[in-house]
Amino acid sequence: MTEKFDITLNINGRDYAVRTEARRTLVDVIRDDCGLTGTHIGCEHGICGACTVILEDEAVRACLMFAVQANGKKIRTVEGLANGDTLHPIQQAFIDHHGLQCGFCTPGFLMLAVNVLERQPDIGDEDMLDVLASNLCRCTGYQNIIKAVRAAAMEMRKIAATEGHYPSPSSGRAGWGSFRGTVSPVAPHPALRATPPRRRGGIVPTSPLRRKSPWSPPRWRAASRKAQRAACRVRRRSRD
Ligand code: FES
Ligand code: FES
Repeated sequence: MTEKFDITLNINGRDYAVRTEARRTLVDVIRDDCGLTGTHIGCEHGICGACTVILEDEAVRACLMFAVQANGKKIRTVEGLANGDTLHPIQQAFIDHHGLQCGFCTPGFLMLAVNVLERQPDIGDEDMLDVLASNLCRCTGYQNIIKAVRAAAMEMRKIAATEGHYPSPSSGRAGWGSFRGTVSPVAPHPALRATPPRRRGGIVPTSPLRRKSPWSPPRWRAASRKAQRAACRVRRRSRD
């Protein structure tokens, strides 16, 4: 008989007690056991980012984690972004700039963008594109997604300038993130810690996966960071 474990997930400030097998992924438990179906499942291989949630202030692929690994941890999902009827600036920006078509990728993009804007409010355009490139939109609505994230960044900076800090539960806007610092840049987003390979000598490593997609605008061909690293390794090996 498969052993089950009792775990507690703190999702959007609420505790969910769950009994689950060790083999089940975090995204499955969030959707099936906690009933929070806003987090989507796409590839289940860590490529598309549709399942992105924020775990302890870091955006993660919920399809690549076991639920038992998140036991006792704080998780934020797309359901926790709005504060009642008041949308988070990133949600409003996606509406205003038509940042979604079918909307399948949207929860993942929202959580990724919120996480990076909270961690690096003053992030530059180039770096923002690198971070967003880790998620895929099957409708290829990238230009509007970029516009929406830029607009949300401006709006969040405005709020930070008037209120002295980013929107957060402590500012009376529960659900608007857990960032409590000032507007000055904080630690870089994990996706940016390594210099993107394409900056080195202007080489643009395109992954075999992305090269196959005729729908991908050139900027987005290097979307999978894992594939980027693999491509770089191959390149280095072939140079040596
Ligand atoms: S479903 Fe998790 S990355 Fe695609
Ligand atoms: S809006 Fe359809 S997948 Fe992105």
